[in-house]
Amino acid sequence: MKVGDRHYRSIWVEDGAVKIIDQRWLPHEFRVVTVETLDEFAAAIRDMWVRGAPLIGATAGYGVACAMARDASDASLAGTCEVLNATRPTAVNLRWALDAMRNALAPLPVADRASAAFAKAAAICDEDVEINRQIGLHGLEIIREIAAKKDGPVNVLTHCNAGWIATVDWGTATSPIYQAHEAGIPVHVFVDETRPRNQGAQLTAWELSEHGVPHDLIVDNAGGHLMQRGEVDLVIVGTDRTTARGDVCNKIGTYLKALAAHDNGVPFYVALPSPTIDWTISDGFEIPIEERSPLEVTKVQGKLEGGDTGWVQISPDASPARNPAFDVTPARLVTGLITERGVAAASPEGLAALFPDLAA
Ligand code: MRU
Repeated sequence: MKVGDRHYRSIWVEDGAVKIIDQRWLPHEFRVVTVETLDEFAAAIRDMWVRGAPLIGATAGYGVACAMARDASDASLAGTCEVLNATRPTAVNLRWALDAMRNALAPLPVADRASAAFAKAAAICDEDVEINRQIGLHGLEIIREIAAKKDGPVNVLTHCNAGWIATVDWGTATSPIYQAHEAGIPVHVFVDETRPRNQGAQLTAWELSEHGVPHDLIVDNAGGHLMQRGEVDLVIVGTDRTTARGDVCNKIGTYLKALAAHDNGVPFYVALPSPTIDWTISDGFEIPIEERSPLEVTKVQGKLEGGDTGWVQISPDASPARNPAFDVTPARLVTGLITERGVAAASPEGLAALFPDLAA
């Protein structure tokens, strides 16, 4: 997608070095950094220089590749995967990408592993882009149908950032929106700010602006009100892990949006790349929920008066805080799962019908 006039992916290789957009500084500063060592890759994922389930997986792939370039032994491969796998617990794409890297590299002679690892990481990235493009095309049909029945733009509410910057390109929840925009269907996005890290305010709003998609930033609590007034045509969110029966784990606050959508008869869709399906789990409450630093709750990051990006405390010094980063929306509240193979019902049968090869 575009930043200014230039097309970017969120991770790429340039002159043999792995480059990422350091998302901690967006929207006020656009910083590209090189990641090289295992410590840097682990910090990039854990401390959210990159974030979003698909991009976390892609970054881990390149983390393994860089480690293989230094030491391609079995011990290095196992140790690298272990360190990276421990960085964030909820997004299953991390485990998926590390398994894919290990399965591709372990059978090879040590001397061949580094080049094969870079090729495999690049393939994971290209696959992500194509999956998301397909999600966009399937989601586009849902938006097209709604557009045909109303005047004015189709109003989509989204939570967190499941945009191109959370993936390698296109995004998951945003891909149908970008496809509709490109197809000339008027589309407008209500962007939940998404406390505590404000991925909506800082990332989704930024990327929609850069790409010229009409949107309004709203506080997290406004969605239910807008749905009651008929101002939201559909909700599309991303997911960090979806179980085999269609329970959806996503950024904290998603469940409340699903409840409000259900109460108001607003369709609630989840954009779901197949690497985000955890076929080993059925009940969403088995998914490990990351508990992040309370400082993300007691402080807010933004542009300070002098123009620098910084943190401001908003709560009393003595007040403790809790920071569960994800919640689970039960399948019964989900209208449909928009995958790269089509729209599935959020049920074991719905997912298995589209992915018989993976469900098995
Ligand atoms: O904690 P984050 O920013 O890594 O959260 C992940 C997300 O961006 C969202 O939960 C998203 O909707 C799913 S990933 C496309």
